Parts: sequence; C-alpha cells; structure tokens
Amino acid sequence: MSSNIYILGIETSCDETAASVTLNGRKVLSNIISSQIDTHKKFGGVVPEVASRNHVEKIDKVVDEALKQSGITLKELDAIAVTNTPGLVGALLVGLSYAKALSYVNDIPMIKVNHIEGHICANYIDTNLEPPFISLVVSGGHTLIIYVKDYDEYKTLGTTRDDACGEAFDKIARVLNLEYPGGPKIDKLSKKGNREAISFKRITLDKESLDFSFSGLKSNVLNYINKSKMKEEKIIIEDVCASFQEAVIDVLLLKVMKAVENTKVKKIALSGGVASNSRLREVMKKECEKSKIDLFIPENIYCTDNGAMISIGGFCKLAQKIQNN
Ligand code: KG4
Ligand code: ZN
Repeated sequence: MSSNIYILGIETSCDETAASVTLNGRKVLSNIISSQIDTHKKFGGVVPEVASRNHVEKIDKVVDEALKQSGITLKELDAIAVTNTPGLVGALLVGLSYAKALSYVNDIPMIKVNHIEGHICANYIDTNLEPPFISLVVSGGHTLIIYVKDYDEYKTLGTTRDDACGEAFDKIARVLNLEYPGGPKIDKLSKKGNREAISFKRITLDKESLDFSFSGLKSNVLNYINKSKMKEEKIIIEDVCASFQEAVIDVLLLKVMKAVENTKVKKIALSGGVASNSRLREVMKKECEKSKIDLFIPENIYCTDNGAMISIGGFCKLAQKIQNN
C-alpha cells in the first residue's frame, strides 16, 4: 500500500446515486452525485422501487465519472467503500452488488460503511477535526447525538423517538403545498418570515434526556393551519415556516449543548441534510462562538447524501485496521 490512500466511495441508500474518490481521508478528488429528486417530486416523496431502478441505470456512469475526474485508475485504489445500512433495501443492494463485483474482479478490498457513520465522516473533509467530539446528525431519516470517542468508536447519547428532523421538515412542507424535499424550501421561505410570529411547542421531553420528538410539533403546526383555515384567517406561509424552523432549531441547540455539558467535550460537528439549513448554521455558529466551542459543519454538498462521506468512512475503518495489526 502506498503512503497515499485512495478510496472510492459508493452511496445508493436513498435517492442519490453517488460516487467519489478521496485522498487520505481528508481531501475530495471527485464527487459525482446523480440526484433523483426530480423523479420523486411528482410522488411527494421517495418511491423505493423507482429509486432502485434509477440506481441501476446510473451507477455505472456515476462511478466511471468519479474515477475519471479524480485522475485515479482502478489499479491505484486502496479500497472500495460502500454504504451497507441503513437505507432502502433495494437501493442499498444496487450499490453493494456493484461494489462487490468491482472489488472481486479487480482484487481491491471492499469496506462496508454505515450511512450515519458516513455523514459524521463528512466533517473530516478539508479540516483538522479529530475525535473526541459531539456529533449532531440531522437528516431525512435520522436524528442523533453521538459521542465520537475515536475514528471508529461511537456512543449514541440521544435519538428521535418518532419522526426524524428532516422528515418533519418534509411533512410540514407537504401540508404547505411545497415540493419535495421540503427542507430547502422551508429554509428559503423562512428568510422572509417572522420567527416569532407563531409560538410553536418546543418539545424537550424530560430534562436529562438527549432524545428528540418532532411528531408533537408537527401536529401543533397542522392544528394551527387547520384552525386558521376554519376561522378564515390568512396564513402567512413565510411566518409558519420561520416559526416552525425556529422551534426545531431551539430544541436541536438545547440538546447538543447539553451533550457538550455532560461530556465536557467542547467540539461539535454537524452533519446530514438538515445541517445545510442556513438558520441552523447561523445559530450554531453564534452559540459556539459565545461558549468557546469548536464547530465543524461540512459544505452544503457534503451535508446531503454523497459518496465522499462514505469513502472517508472507509478510510477511518481501514486506518484503524492497519493500526491494530
Ligand atoms: O442526509 P440526506 O440527504 O438524506 C438522508 O440520509 O435522509 O437528508 C435529506 C433531508 C431531507 O429531509 C431534506 O428536506 C433535508 O435533509 N434538508 C433540509 C435542508 N436541505 C435538505 N432541511 C432543512 N433545511 C435545509 N436547507
Ligand atoms: Zn443521509
């Protein structure tokens, strides 16, 4: 193995067919993402069977392009990393079978990477971040606070008891007749809205818990909309978006700060699709500056699903294996 480690990462767990080549677990040499959003938009969400078929059609081209743009040949790769769980089973199978075949035929080791671990690893891109740190993963399928003790040692401190954070954004957006995925639309409309216009519930559960619950907030917003309609009151969509978003962010902030307080680890890394939310980024930056906490947030393109995060997840596993041998 050369001193430079090149890993091809493949991600197909949901509605993005993605591949990337990274160098030494920190630098992205290529990052190709074929999004299926336009296909799923008309159904208001991801249709699993349609997603799998799209992956089958796109994976070859996406991987070829990732290799081409990186300037790295298959022979030069040290490993192929691929998402193995969690995700849509048919979608995952496309990436897994493809990676397995590529690895077998070219005699390149294959490394299976957990999708959530991948999201966390996006924080290593172009940074000097090192564990231990507190990770807040907020995506369409997951909401977790994880204590990252080492590159492959994780302890879950809190999770959602019902909806995931991004799922709450998407469901509220649907009620407001906004297109899928709703998160970016709510983010945009919120900029023109009043965050204090409607006081939606901040569901914090018991004081010591680092768990989340978003279904109550969702009902709270739905009730507000229905009541306003019944009373024939005008609904200012920008205000609903801004007030809902603020309620979500307040709780995320409260819980992640509590995790810092409990562990005394003054380093936070955000990741997952919702981490690209402009207000969340703004609030987190302000709070971390005030409390002298180091904050890491990947560029937007590495917050939502991508192959680079999986490639780097593979690097962490490989590096740990080499160290242990
Ligand atoms: O990480 P991701 O690409 O896929 C999953 O692993 O789930 O996250 C997608 C989720 C969607 O729910 C989407 O609405 C949300 O991330 N999202 C956002 C924003 N951009 C994407 N939510 C709030 N604000 C955004 N700017
Ligand atoms: Zn994801």
